[in-house]
Amino acid sequence: MTVKSIVSSLTSSPLDLPHRPRRNRRSPVMRGFARETWLSPQHFIYPLFIHDGTGNIPIASMPGCERLSLDGLYREAEGALSEGVGSVVLFPATPEHLKTELAEHAYHPEGLVQRAIAGLKQRFPELVVVTDVALDPYSSAGHDGLVSPDGRILNDETVAILCKQALSQAEAGADIIAPSDMMDGRVAAIRGALDAAGHTEVAILSYTAKYASAFYGPFRDALDSAPKAGDKKTYQMDPANSREALRELELDELEGADMVMVKPAGAYLDVIRRIRESTTLPVAAYQVSGEYAMLKAASANGWLNERDVALESLLAIRRAGADVILTYYARQAARWLAER
Ligand code: PBG
Repeated sequence: MTVKSIVSSLTSSPLDLPHRPRRNRRSPVMRGFARETWLSPQHFIYPLFIHDGTGNIPIASMPGCERLSLDGLYREAEGALSEGVGSVVLFPATPEHLKTELAEHAYHPEGLVQRAIAGLKQRFPELVVVTDVALDPYSSAGHDGLVSPDGRILNDETVAILCKQALSQAEAGADIIAPSDMMDGRVAAIRGALDAAGHTEVAILSYTAKYASAFYGPFRDALDSAPKAGDKKTYQMDPANSREALRELELDELEGADMVMVKPAGAYLDVIRRIRESTTLPVAAYQVSGEYAMLKAASANGWLNERDVALESLLAIRRAGADVILTYYARQAARWLAER
């Protein structure tokens, strides 16, 4: 029996199939008609690490990412813009001597992030600059909130500092403030503080469902920001839960969030979908450092085709319901998409 003989016998007696989904997959054009989701650089926010020094320093667990000097940051932002990526989010590496119990450097008017925002907006007014609000890069304890002497993370006291941090970022020119700290009530408090200071146009992208995830490992290496003691489980969400994400969503909407986020993305596609179906706000998802590191490591070993898996992962996040994706692949993906 050869394929040829099978073909000639079958064509004479085709199966009686009224439905043949393969008809819609026959050609690139037909597949284009049926395509439900697509990726474009306009969907990306590009996370960038910065440090207060000269030169760019590679990050071992995140190949292709560096701690950028301010000059390096401006070059990277210019490159991203030219490739269609219109937004960056900044993460500062803070030297140990500037980290304190009360994380005062978080709202220093001449802090690294504040200077970086102003420098970016001066050079590229159209670039949408997003900033992270949380104390971990500035806290000697490495936590997103203030730590009491007995080791508890203090909620309301932290929120007061987060407001100062958000305000200093808005003052420097930030377009979108993104609180990643997971304290209760921070969105309302930050909205109030921004409005009272006249920053009614500055938006809030809330990390609504941010999980206590092991996928943040490489990020904490990149910034030396891992907690010195304990973990983040009393404020970040339990990976076992998804109903709880809807509760956080409801509160963030009531408190005035403009956009909501799910983080990480790849292992939480179901949460992205539930949030998408429960809100009219734009939904963002963060493809975090560990997701990026996995794809990089397997690709470096020749086990996966980097371009194909990276684009497929991003597409899956969009299909799950994300409007916007924060991804370390933003620039590279924009280039890959332009080649197609
Ligand atoms: C800080 C913050 C973290 C990430 C973004 N903002 C780390 C953490 O919460 O421990 C992780 C991003 C990534 O892993 O790519 N609050």
